[in-house]
Amino acid sequence: MSEKFYITTPIYYPSDKLHIGHAYCTTAADSIARFKRQTGYDVMFLTGTDEHGQKIEKIAMEKGMSPKEYVDGIVAQIKALWELMNITNDDFIRTTDKRHEQCVQKIFQKLYDQGDIYKSEYESWYCTPCEAFWTDTQLIDGKCPDCGRPVQRVKEESYFFRASKYADKLIQHIKDNPEFIQPESRKNEMLNNFLLPGLEDLCVSRSSFRWGIPVPFDKDHVMYVWIDALSNYISALGYLSDDDSMFRKYWPADLHLVGKEIVRFHTITWPTILMALGLPLPKRVYGHGWLTLQGGKMSKSRGNVVDPVVLVGRYGVDAIRYFLMREAPLGSDLMFSNELLLTRINADLANDLGNLLSRTVAMVDKYFGGEIPAAGEAEKDDRKLIDFASGLPGRFEALMNEWKVSEALGETWQYVGMLNKYIDVTMPWALAKDEGKKPRLASVMYHLAEGLRIISVLIESVMPETAVKMREQLGIDNCGPLSCWDSILEYGQLRAGINVMKGAPIFPRIEVDKELAELDKLMAAAQEPPKEEKKQEGPQQITIDDFKKVQLKTAKVIHCENLEGSDKLLKLTVKCGGERRTIVSGIRESFCAQDMVGKTVVIVANLKPAKLRGTLSEGMILAVGDNPDIALVTADSEDGLTVG
Ligand code: MSP
Repeated sequence: MSEKFYITTPIYYPSDKLHIGHAYCTTAADSIARFKRQTGYDVMFLTGTDEHGQKIEKIAMEKGMSPKEYVDGIVAQIKALWELMNITNDDFIRTTDKRHEQCVQKIFQKLYDQGDIYKSEYESWYCTPCEAFWTDTQLIDGKCPDCGRPVQRVKEESYFFRASKYADKLIQHIKDNPEFIQPESRKNEMLNNFLLPGLEDLCVSRSSFRWGIPVPFDKDHVMYVWIDALSNYISALGYLSDDDSMFRKYWPADLHLVGKEIVRFHTITWPTILMALGLPLPKRVYGHGWLTLQGGKMSKSRGNVVDPVVLVGRYGVDAIRYFLMREAPLGSDLMFSNELLLTRINADLANDLGNLLSRTVAMVDKYFGGEIPAAGEAEKDDRKLIDFASGLPGRFEALMNEWKVSEALGETWQYVGMLNKYIDVTMPWALAKDEGKKPRLASVMYHLAEGLRIISVLIESVMPETAVKMREQLGIDNCGPLSCWDSILEYGQLRAGINVMKGAPIFPRIEVDKELAELDKLMAAAQEPPKEEKKQEGPQQITIDDFKKVQLKTAKVIHCENLEGSDKLLKLTVKCGGERRTIVSGIRESFCAQDMVGKTVVIVANLKPAKLRGTLSEGMILAVGDNPDIALVTADSEDGLTVG
């Protein structure tokens, strides 16, 4: 039975559009997953989406949608992007999946029952206009990081997870298992910056918003982000469900591949939760670097994102996958630029690999009628190639198993370079002129074709389409033994006598200057918001939770006048409980100012104040019908009562 390998990416926030930085993380995981399958492992590769939280709730509300409606649309786009990038995940977990929600609720309950979750008070900064909570470290110059306005200190009742209880055990685990946090530098960062100074308990619930998994025993609270998100790695496997066979088979994870900024949650928060659950810890957490642009990390809020859909559409998925995996080691940052991308595609793919294939196939076609000839006795130049190629799969495998994808490709391209040089040195065109040198020419053709076959198998995990195209041109059946990993461990398995098939260049050369100008235009267009929001047909449906957010109150009109400068608006002063408010209302075509005084109306009391014709309106009066036939919603009760 083959050994199992469980690999995960983080689950992505459904932001409006994923950028090439997100694609980087998933491509790396996919390349490793494909490689593990290729080398005989039983692989489980998981990715998904992290859909709860106040931010999503707010965006959805602004768009006039329910949070679920909003995330459904984005998740469909994310899945389409992974298809475009040829990602071979075995499962896709959404934190809004029933299977996930049920699992996390059971986890929460279990931790509460055993005393590892307790109720206390959460203190943080609150930005009233944004309705958002921020921690000390999230503030920018002491102000709200979203809108830059001042924030207030507030306290909120919350549940806490007793992470501190497991700190010593975790420190010991990290010391005893040097492979647990990789690369090494991240391990020191976790120990020195977070664990050794003392670990605080973690706030795991919120009562100030509703878009989250409800705490099973307290309906006023929803779970807060990390306990929900991190549990995806086991909820997807059926942990605590009726069928936990996948969990028993694949847990613990062999590799959590994550961006460097969330290593902390995966190597501190997650292990302490697992320890409390009595479960084994993931074997390795690898923190990869960021794709940056001049001036910092690529991110939507900075407005500096690069759209992978544009790039894949222009250069093909394999060129983009290759660039992402080749350009920088996985643990380092990679400063992205279009120029760097195009230069790399031209040099490595169009020139080195693409030309090598076209030239080889063309020469076999021309000199041997398309049939790959048999090699004769190896000469010195051939021996060099054979020696290098014989050790290459082993070196490639060792590097891939240390997640050194760029270095593994580097080794492969060294071989590509050697084969190109081999053509220059052996000069097949000169050999072809002399009939007596035909056996030598045959040997040269064979070593070139065998080299290309080996390369096609090596690059398959990073460039699956190219691998197939190369073997098609070499005339090799793609599902046959010649296209699998074991076939490259021994040099010379390519059979003589098969027929090459000339094809189009696998990577056409790019005219860099022209392309750069074109890309700038396309990227700018891809970042522009759509001109007109699609109009909703029929009334928008809302959930009961949406409705609960609306605070309706009775209010008595104590003064009313026409609003200066408008012939449609009335300016009302209303009394609502102990307070007075000014409300501007567009009901003047149906009511004159005097008629309004004395009425007890119903108002939306928690509507965000807005200025209308220079007057701040602090609420909205409920009315039905269209002007001039409007009926007010009135009440025969006192003012200040909450309706509903
Ligand atoms: N939802 C959390 C993860 C929860 S996992 C239990 C999250 N989501 S994210 O959408 O913001 O990021 C997902 C992954 O994309 C992270 O690993 C992050 O590092 C990675 N990247 C986001 N921008 C990136 C770059 N510019 N470059 C490289 N990776 C990037 O964090």
